Amino acid sequence: MYSYLHRYHAGNFADVHKHLVLMATLNKLIQKPSPFCVLDAFAGEGQYRLDSEESKKNAEFENGIAPLLNLKPASLLVTQYIALIQRYNTESQIQTYPGSPEIIAKYLRTNDKGIFIEGHPSCYPILKNHFKGQANIHVHKRDAYEALSALIPFKEKRGLVFLDPSYEVKSEYEKIATQLIHLYAKFSNAIYLIWYPILVDGHHERLKEILHSHATLKLFQHEFYPKNTNLAHRLRGSGIILINPPWQIDEIIREAFTELESVFL
Ligand SMILES: C[S@@+](CC[C@H](N)C(=O)[O-])C[C@H]1O[C@@H](n2cnc3c(N)ncnc32)[C@H](O)[C@@H]1O
Repeated sequence: MYSYLHRYHAGNFADVHKHLVLMATLNKLIQKPSPFCVLDAFAGEGQYRLDSEESKKNAEFENGIAPLLNLKPASLLVTQYIALIQRYNTESQIQTYPGSPEIIAKYLRTNDKGIFIEGHPSCYPILKNHFKGQANIHVHKRDAYEALSALIPFKEKRGLVFLDPSYEVKSEYEKIATQLIHLYAKFSNAIYLIWYPILVDGHHERLKEILHSHATLKLFQHEFYPKNTNLAHRLRGSGIILINPPWQIDEIIREAFTELESVFL
């Protein structure tokens, strides 16, 4: 348990995928003035140095965010994403990559709330320190599954639950899907965004099978298979499922990835 460290993978093509979908969802949430809450249950460190020894080890960002930085995109979502990443970097060099909590924090208005959960003993203090002094952001060191049961439903009545587990054990695909079914039964108004890796072993199929077998769930699934994936990393593709997808988000995501496929060829 807790042998996974996201700093080895930050900014890879799976981060590009999940963070674009995350931003597309947050764009929809800020369209209404009423307050919302975002619960990021597997938050990581908040922000990553891509020039750290860990990031440079496999340099996964070179097949992820790096080739996108100088793109002049046509799609609004990709334009927003690149503009956000550029705020942390100089034009010519990528050194910093914002994780999901940092991206979420950029969208929160004064009355919105962010709850970030991280259980790793060395990641939690980094995350906690990163958001020190921000009144509408709550960072907890606790088990994500226990926190999800305890904190849902939100009192805000609307919001997003972002689920980005590390899948260190293969039983986690089933565990997270089953928990999602329970959470939905308690709080069917929320949007749920779950990310899964598409690996050669195919264990992610179990997660999809469980969610798709619940006919009452409104789902949007999107998978991204960049052609230049380094197969040595076993990661063949990246998948997301949105439960209660906001209106027309499917078109926004497909448009963005049609454009990105040419970069990842
Ligand atoms: C894939 S990383 C998160 C990356 C982050 N969501 C982002 O997009 O920047 C998964 C994180 O979840 C944490 N984690 C894994 N299992 C957990 C659990 N049961 N409870 C709390 N944190 C957990 C890991 O320590 C790791 O930092």
